[in-house]
Amino acid sequence: MKFNIAVLPGDGVGPDVTNEAQRVLLAVGRRFGHQFNFQNGLIGGVSIDKYGEALTSETLEMCRSCDAVLLGAVGGPKWDDPNAAVRPEDGLLAIRKELGLFANLRPVKMLSMLENSTSLKPEVVRNVDMMVIRELTGGLYFGKPKRRWSNSRGRRAIDSMYYTEGEIDRIVRVGFEVAQSRRRKLTSVDKANVLESSRLWRQIATEIAADYPQVKLDHMLVDACAMRFIQNPGYFDVIVTENTFGDILTDEASMLAGSMGMLPSASLSGIPGGKRRAFGLYEPIHGSAPDIAGMNIANPIATIKSAAMMLHYSLGLNNEADTLENAVLRALNDGYRTKDIMSDGMKQAGTAEMGKLIEERI
Ligand code: IPM
Ligand code: MG
Repeated sequence: MKFNIAVLPGDGVGPDVTNEAQRVLLAVGRRFGHQFNFQNGLIGGVSIDKYGEALTSETLEMCRSCDAVLLGAVGGPKWDDPNAAVRPEDGLLAIRKELGLFANLRPVKMLSMLENSTSLKPEVVRNVDMMVIRELTGGLYFGKPKRRWSNSRGRRAIDSMYYTEGEIDRIVRVGFEVAQSRRRKLTSVDKANVLESSRLWRQIATEIAADYPQVKLDHMLVDACAMRFIQNPGYFDVIVTENTFGDILTDEASMLAGSMGMLPSASLSGIPGGKRRAFGLYEPIHGSAPDIAGMNIANPIATIKSAAMMLHYSLGLNNEADTLENAVLRALNDGYRTKDIMSDGMKQAGTAEMGKLIEERI
């Protein structure tokens, strides 16, 4: 089969890691007889430099015309001025919103061979295998009013955690659907002891639970959840939560998997599951790491695993996705490590070497 993939490398290590994901996708294509056509576009700082906008309508249209989008990372000190009219991150938020990618799936799994590269005790992280589902196009990131101003009493600013019933309903249903295909335990994370939007969220989640009697739903406050992550992360199966809560919790969760460089994500415009395919954007959860950009040390595995999620969720190529996942595991089992997950007795590999090691195992 033929597929058109939009590739938006973005800033910093973005190009380093998307290159490796393209390399392994081409290898999957050769092995299974598929053709992946990559179409490149700009997003983030590189787009600001060229067009004055973090995401142009041309790039957006190009993405819409493709079967899926692969993204690297955006941002960097060059564009970090708090008074700048446009920021690289605006491009990422805009593409998520414009493409309707409301469901962000972030699987967090501790691989046994990486137990020694975490900063936590191996026995704490041993059973970590969870899926965090982050609402991605609403909440505090997008709610209006959102602005900064000043008056005679000084400067002030506002962001709004705004949600409609429809937005909460669809993301919570993704949570139940995904939980049904896993260990049937869904934890809805909120701050219902303080926030109105969380009280609505909790109410709706409780109502929807009636449609999924096989799934056990519990509610957890976000602060308690942050604590439970490092105390007993094996507790969790599927988590569903608000945009900002999900952003913060998944950075924390990445440490349960050894490194930010290991965590992939899928941002989907529909409910995944069964034979249904959803349009999606695939990106590592890590940022642009400008300090190591172009140095051939970034870990490409998060992006390669994101490509595997693309094969599965958007292209319906499940065997191909499993093959790619296994190739990653085999490279790790064979003792290869990028710098971020390096430990005694292992063989250190650069970004491109790790890509090639995985490619050879497809
Ligand atoms: C992420 C990132 C982005 C976010 C930034 C770069 C805007 O942290 O994907 O988690 O906050 O969503
Ligand atoms: Mg983040």
